[in-house]
Order: sequence, then structure tokens, then C-alpha cells
Amino acid sequence: MIPSHERKRTNYIGRKAELSLLSDILDNVRDGKGNLVLIAGEAGIGKTRLIEEMKHLDAFSTFNLLTGRCLYFKDTDIYLPFKEIFNQYKGIMKNIEVESPFFIRSENSREGSLIREEDFVPMSLIPAEVEYPEETREGMNVEGLMDFDKMSEFIFKLSDRGPLCLFIDDLHWADPPSIKLLQYLAQKITDHPILIVCTYRPEDLFWAEDTPHPLTDPLKRLSRDKLFIPMELKRLSREETDELISEILEVERIPRSFGRLIYKRTNGNPFFVEEVIYSLLERNIIDPSVPDWHKNIDPQTISLPTTLKDIILRRMHWLSSSSIAVLRLSSVSSGTLITFEIIKDALNLSDEEVLEALEELVRAKFLREIPDEESYDFENPVIQEVVYSELNHSRRRFLHNKMAHVLEERFSKNPSYWGSIGIHFYKGKEFEKALKYLIKASSHFSRVAPQKALDYLTMVLICMENLPQSDSIKEQNLEVLIETSNLCLKISEWDRALQFAEKALNLATVLRRNRVKMKAKVNIGEVLRCRGEYDKALGAYQDVFSNMQEEDPETFAQAYMGMGYIHWRRGEFPRALELFSRSLQYAKLQNNLSTIGALYLNIGNVFNHRGDLDKAIDYYRRGSKHLESHGNLLEACRGYSNMGGVYLQKGELDKAEEMLRTALNKSKEQGRSDPWWPQILMIKLHALRDEFREAERIFDMVNEELKGREDRMAQGTSLLYFGLSRMREGRREPDNRKKVISDNGCRFFACQ
Ligand SMILES: Nc1ncnc2c1ncn2[C@@H]1O[C@H](COP(=O)(O)OP(=O)(O)OP(=O)(O)O)[C@@H](O)[C@H]1O
Ligand SMILES: [Mg+2]
Repeated sequence: MIPSHERKRTNYIGRKAELSLLSDILDNVRDGKGNLVLIAGEAGIGKTRLIEEMKHLDAFSTFNLLTGRCLYFKDTDIYLPFKEIFNQYKGIMKNIEVESPFFIRSENSREGSLIREEDFVPMSLIPAEVEYPEETREGMNVEGLMDFDKMSEFIFKLSDRGPLCLFIDDLHWADPPSIKLLQYLAQKITDHPILIVCTYRPEDLFWAEDTPHPLTDPLKRLSRDKLFIPMELKRLSREETDELISEILEVERIPRSFGRLIYKRTNGNPFFVEEVIYSLLERNIIDPSVPDWHKNIDPQTISLPTTLKDIILRRMHWLSSSSIAVLRLSSVSSGTLITFEIIKDALNLSDEEVLEALEELVRAKFLREIPDEESYDFENPVIQEVVYSELNHSRRRFLHNKMAHVLEERFSKNPSYWGSIGIHFYKGKEFEKALKYLIKASSHFSRVAPQKALDYLTMVLICMENLPQSDSIKEQNLEVLIETSNLCLKISEWDRALQFAEKALNLATVLRRNRVKMKAKVNIGEVLRCRGEYDKALGAYQDVFSNMQEEDPETFAQAYMGMGYIHWRRGEFPRALELFSRSLQYAKLQNNLSTIGALYLNIGNVFNHRGDLDKAIDYYRRGSKHLESHGNLLEACRGYSNMGGVYLQKGELDKAEEMLRTALNKSKEQGRSDPWWPQILMIKLHALRDEFREAERIFDMVNEELKGREDRMAQGTSLLYFGLSRMREGRREPDNRKKVISDNGCRFFACQ
């Protein structure tokens, strides 16, 4: 059986502009205006592949191709690429009687291996009366023997038989005499139908200061004399990367989260993408034939294959020792933190040494300057990872520690650095300090970026495990467990929310902290409620009231709100309103704007489903305002989204769109790309405007995001609105009928 991860040639993606430019160049060359094209791009960007694709262009059909490669060896034969070109030619002469009449096999192709297209040289290339240059017959092994004039005449003769393309791959490894010959030919071919196309990696042209790369100077000269057409291949875009991944995995479309993960890792370098995906397949980390295959992939498991590591480590060979020190320090850091000052503080280097090292690293394309920020980042995240992976554990710990202290010294008062400082202490294994900064960072981000806050707290819990279990640590642990569970609830990670709430419940029981115990109970109730297990949830909330000796406004407000929600869902509107207003009393006792805001939204929901739309809008608006002023922007988006929903019911589509867009934009500002409800309502908006394709596009996207989630309400409603779109498209029902169906959608689900 063929293993599923056997590598195959994928379809070609993007590069339309490059192919079209090549096509124009080919047309010109065919008309006798020879040219040299130099294709530059980092390792794996697709230089060689571009030329393979060029061969399929119509404009190339009359061209004959001879290929020469350069190899990475110190003492490679001189003129190796040109020798290959001539050997192909000689091969033609030898095998002429035995091979096919149209194509014959060149010496290049391996015995017994599959005959590949590139191993053939067209018959038409065999000139009737071409003379070999002397050197070719002799084997061209000795430097200085090459007569450049004879060589060019030889090539011109070949081109008499039809337009000729000489392709020299990996010019950065070419021997200096070959580069000279190339320079010479570039001047000579301009009035012959000859195209010379070469590829090279600019980052490999970087050698130590005192030994410049042999290609550097010739490139400058050729450029000054305008003797070549430069082409630079850039990385694939996010969309193109997705396309490449689906090509490799042979699936029609890849989940957005997976695409995001891979793009983040590879920055759109096609070779990196291939390597990473195949390595995931080979290690059975993904299997696209299984449903939900892309869920729960630990980004840590996306390790880099050795081929990639080799390419990058080889380039480090030329760096000075201070550059290597700077590079290593940078590898423990991230973008905004790699600055001259920080490096200088952290390493024992003079100003001049740091500046030189940074310049060298930029020249060698390890780092790039971030414009306007006076800071640096890695050219590609892969480079950072390789450098980091090469550090041994003690050095890693040492560097993180250094970084932590430098940042603490400079930025301990700046909240946006707390997270980084905490993480560096954490990785430097100074747990007490790590704890302090991570907790500060987490509470700073909990409203606006709960996922980030949660990540910090997860680290805090590990720090705590590593510290002596004093009473105060245990107390702190309890608080952190509750807060972690709160954050999980905020981002709908219900399993984890439950897990942390149960841990908190146990610890609170041991420590006899009744209040915290009840908070944990409320959270358990929240999870049950969100999962639609209403009876169990009501039981958990009831427990709170019967076990609480004194009133705790915050916990009571939460519990009443949860209960009110369940009654609303069950269509018991008066009871729901009663519970919400009780909750409101407790929330107001503490002037807890966040809870008050959330309650207004809930009350808005009741009016909405009672059909009292103006009142609903009023409550939604008040709720959003409260939430916004409390900084709880994600919840506020919910208010805008709900308002959008009501305007849809009222048939005020433009107003609805305005609200939904506000909700979407505001959640994007908060770094959330997946706000479902405004998206789901957008399906309805487009359906009502008869924009069916757009409705379908959004439905597909939402559907993808919701897969594997437990949110049946969201799944059901998006299906309903998509159904509405289909129905309008297909049967063109009278308007009033459509409205009835869509308006009933929500109520239908509310009663389920
Ligand atoms: N546009 C593309 N669409 C699909 N696959 C691509 C594309 N570009 C490159 N690839 C694939 O990515 C891999 C790397 O491409 P290629 O070998 O051409 O890179 P390169 O720039 O020549 O690298 P090197 O500098 O190491 O020679 C190959 O498997 C190639 O088929
Ligand atoms: Mg290549």
C-alpha cells in the first residue's frame, strides 16, 4: 500500500505575475533579444519550481533547454554548471542512434530510475555541424583553459537551431570561474535568441566581512550595466498557503484554524509548509480522513524537520561570535523586545559590538528591522525556532533569566510588559517572581483578552506546583483556580471551566472557605447551563442559596442571573424577569457594572422574545454601554449583535448591518476573529437581501468554526438562516411568509 504521506508534486499555486513576466521575456528572446534573468529568493521559496513551471508556458514551446546545477561543496569542479550543460549535449551525440526519434535520454538520467521530463533534451538541439570547443573535449578540468569566445560561439551555434534556454540553478554555490563566464555571456547574448536564467539565495551571499562572496561583486556590476532582469520571489500569502496545504492533504478546504497555525509557523514559505505538513502526517499527528482531525493540535508538536534545521544552521557558520550571542538572546525573545538597549543590557558587549552584530544579522537575513520601531524581528519564525532549539537547557534558562531581569529593570511599571517579564522568569525557573508578574498580567488582560489571561494563569498554576506549599500559596492557588475557571467560561471552554471549578471546590472544602466553595458551585452551574443541562444547573444554583450562611452579593447575583437565563430559555418570561431583577439588586449593591451590563442584555432578550422590540433595543443599548464603560468589550459586542438581530426582525436592514458590523469590528479589535453570533445574524441579513452567495460563504465559515463545539443553539440558528437563504433563492416565497419563518427561528430554538 502506498503510505498516505508519500510525497507528490502538488499543483502550482499563485505566481501569476512572475509567469506572465517570464512569458513576455521568452517572447522577446525568441525574437532575438537575448537576456539574463536572475531569480532571487530564500531557500524553499520556489525558485527551481518556477522554472519547471516556465517550461509549460506556451511561449516556451519552441525553446530548447539545457540545465546546469551548482553544488554545495568547497572543492567543486570548476565550470561545473557549464560542464553539465555540455555533458547533456555530448550525451545527445552519443546516444543518437538508439533513442526515440523525438527525444533522447541524456547522460543525466539515472539508470533504471523513472525517466523524468527534465532528463530529456529535445532532438532539435543537435546541430548538424557544431564543433565542440577544445576544452569540452578535454574535460575542462583546469582553470584558465576555457576560451570564453569559443564557448559563446558554441552556444550561439546551438541557438541557430532554435531559441535556447540555459538554466543554472543555485548560483550562490557556483565556482568563481563559472560566474565570470556567466558575466561574459550576459554581454554577448543580447542579440541572440538565448535566455540564461539563474536562481540564487540572497541570504547565502552573506559571508564573513573579510571574504566577500564571489557572486557579490559580479551582481553589482551586472546590475550597474543593466545586464539582467531581476526577479524576487516572495512568500505565499495566507490564502495561497491554505491552498498549498489543501493540495498536500488532498482535502477540498482546510479548517481556518489549522491554516492559521501553519501560516504562523512557516510564514508562507512553500518548502517549510511542505516539510511541516509531511512531518505531521509522518508522525500521525494529523489524519485528514478522520473527522475533526484538526482539533486539539498542540502547536508544540509541530516540530521542524532536520532538513530545515540544516539549511539554517549552515548559515550561522559565517557569523561572528557576538552576532551568535545576539542571535541566541533574540531567540528567547519576541519581536518588540529585540532592541539595541535590551541586548546591550543583557549581554556583556560594547555599544559598537551590539550595533555591528545587529547589522550583520540583518545583512545575513537572520533578523529584519521593524520599520519605525527601532526593534528587530526574525526574518522567519522558523529561524528563531531553530536557533532556540539548538540551545541547551541551561543556556536557555540562563538567557530567559537575563532577559527577565533586564525587562524588569526597565519596564516593571508598564502593564504591557508584565506578561513577557513573567514568562521569562517562568522559563528561567524563578517561580516566585514569575508568579507575581503573571498574575498581574492576567488580571490586566482578563477583560479584553481572556484567552491571553488564561494562558498566563495556566503558567501560574505550574509555578505554584513548584513552590513550597505554604498556607498562603494554597490560598492563592484557590483564588487562581476560580479565576481560571471564570476565564474558561468567558471563552466557552466549558470542559476546562468545569475541571478548574471542581478543583477549586475540593481545595475550598479542605481549606474551609465557604464563600469560595459557593463561587465554584456557581461556576459548575454555569457550565451545566451552557451545556443545556438545565435541571442539573438549577440544582447547582440552589445549592448556593442553601449553603451560604451570609449573603455574598457577587455570588448571589451570578446565581440568580443563571437561573433567570434558564427560565428565559424555557419561555417562562415573568419568572425570568423576576430572577433577573433580584440579581440586579445584588449587582447594584456592589455597583458591579459588568454584571449589571450582562443583566441588561439578558432582560433585553426577554423583551425581544416577547415581541417588545423597542424595549429590547433599549436594554441592549444600556447593557452595552455599561459593559463598555467597565472595559468588558467582548460582552458589549454581544449587546450590539443582539441589537442587530432585533433590527433584522424589524426589517430595518441597514441599521441591523450597522450594529452587526460594530459588533464584528469591536471583537476584532479585541483580537477575536471568531465572533459567531454577529456572523450568524449576517447570514440572515444577506438572506433577506437576497445575497445568497455571501450568505453561503458566511454560513460555511461559521459552520467550520462551530464544528466539534457544543453550542447547539448557534449551530441550529446558523442552519436555520442558511435554510432561509436557500428557500428564498429556490422558491421565492412571498415576503410575509419569509418573515414569519425567520422570526420564528429564534423562538423555535428558545423553546427547545
Ligand atoms: N507556488 C508553488 N506552488 C506549489 N508548490 C510550490 C510552489 N513553490 C514551491 N513549491 C514547492 O516547494 C518546494 C520548494 O520549492 P523549490 O525547490 O523550487 O524551492 P527553491 O527556492 O528552489 O529552494 P532552494 O533555494 O532550496 O533550491 C518544492 O517541493 C516545490 O514543489
Ligand atoms: Mg532550488
